[in-house]
Amino acid sequence: MSSEKIRIFDTTLRDGEQSPGCSMTLDEKVTLARQIEKLGVDIIEAGFPAASDGDFESVRTVAEKIRRPSIAGLCRTRPGDLEAAAKALEVAAKPRIHTFIATSDIHMEYKLRMTRERVLEEVDRAVRQACGYVEDVEFSAEDATRSDWDFLVEVFSTAVAAGASTLNVPDTVGYTTPAEYGKLITHLRENVEGADKAIFSVHCHNDLGLAVANSLAAVNAGARQVECTVNGIGERAGNAAVEEVVMAIKTRSEVLGNVHTDVNTEEIYPSSRLLSTVVGVPVQPNKAIVGENAFAHEAGIHQDGVLKKAITYEIMTPQSIGRPSNELVLGKHSGRHAFQDRLKELGFQLEKKELEQAFARFKTLADKKKVIYNGDLEAIVSDEILRTDDRFKLGNLVIISGTFATATATVELFDGEQRLKTSCSGDGPVDAVFKAIKELTQTESKLLAYEVKAVTEGMDAQGDVSVKLLQGERSVIGQGAHTDIIVASGKAYVRALNKLEWHKKKHSLIEPKGI
Ligand code: KIV
Ligand code: ZN
Repeated sequence: MSSEKIRIFDTTLRDGEQSPGCSMTLDEKVTLARQIEKLGVDIIEAGFPAASDGDFESVRTVAEKIRRPSIAGLCRTRPGDLEAAAKALEVAAKPRIHTFIATSDIHMEYKLRMTRERVLEEVDRAVRQACGYVEDVEFSAEDATRSDWDFLVEVFSTAVAAGASTLNVPDTVGYTTPAEYGKLITHLRENVEGADKAIFSVHCHNDLGLAVANSLAAVNAGARQVECTVNGIGERAGNAAVEEVVMAIKTRSEVLGNVHTDVNTEEIYPSSRLLSTVVGVPVQPNKAIVGENAFAHEAGIHQDGVLKKAITYEIMTPQSIGRPSNELVLGKHSGRHAFQDRLKELGFQLEKKELEQAFARFKTLADKKKVIYNGDLEAIVSDEILRTDDRFKLGNLVIISGTFATATATVELFDGEQRLKTSCSGDGPVDAVFKAIKELTQTESKLLAYEVKAVTEGMDAQGDVSVKLLQGERSVIGQGAHTDIIVASGKAYVRALNKLEWHKKKHSLIEPKGI
């Protein structure tokens, strides 16, 4: 029996971006999209064009630059949303319009205030409108797993008749279980009129920790597209993680109905690292596949077994997901090539000028630190390269603090070309620096979280500071690394402000969480 393909639909740039603090700027989205294209997914959902000017521009730019996978734009069934999606995707090599409406009684009654008949009309009209723009149309029944099964059959039959070729069955609130979800997919495949003309897709949230298990149960029941995100980021507890879905399919294809994906699994680790660096959200150490401990054998018996034969305790190899085999990497004598190679392994494809910039920064750091680890390299790139559209730039910084002195910071900051400078005192040096930056940038935001950790081991380690800010509905995370943690704190704060500036400039037309 020949193996059947499971399409991988990556929604890191859309559902993933809906995780608190994970908002991305245009440049960040394009950087990630390039890596996700390398990962070999079939479809990249680049955003929700009607949501904001920023989202529209992101979908359009990703569609312009990323040519191999299909590029999807999400939209409600409203005519204006569909128009915006079609316009943003005009330039795409393979455009897909993804339209959705809620179908559960709870959502229809309390959120949409629509009857079932009205929802069916919306589905029909929206899918027909979408088909007028592009050939490839996906329809999602939001909150499908809490919807009446007979009504769902009607909804999907209407969508197919109107021209949808992919039918997505989202577990929007992460409510279902593998057995129930498998049965639902089977029921739909058996009862939707024209089911054989469409591909059934699944989109699972992880509220009960079942997103991947549910997705795989659906594959067993005949679903042929899985929607997921890198590192499993997404609304609330997140989405099914692409690395887990793909490696489960690769490792246990025989129990999943002899299926495969076209994902280049060696790009999994670089994709995970890049996302974590871009959004500033660390990967938990015990995270399956990409966590720091995923391939670490601590118990003596396990170590002994692995040394004798890796298969005793290893069901897949670190190489198969593109994990560099040695952590200790470079020093001050390392050349450009070694530097560039290691950056590639971590998911960074830099242009010539960026590479020169990063290499110069690496050499300066290597003079201060004996060994440079992967974490240091990620910090360099995240600090210097992934921020071309920043409005504010931190200049010099002088701090006075200690047990006898009131902490005072003198901060130099550039607002575009304009050089600004001020001094502030505060409750400790970090507070003083933040106050000075706030005064210079004249910004209003709430500090939600502040965290410092060492990037690597050793007394000479860089401090990695993460700052989470809230402005209105939008929360962002900024990161900064430096051997001086006060400087790292200033950088992280300025970075978070720059992200807020970008989103303000691209002014949200609907609430970011309004889907
Ligand atoms: O979770 C969900 O229902 C969604 C849809 C818009 C596909 O993200
Ligand atoms: Zn979702």
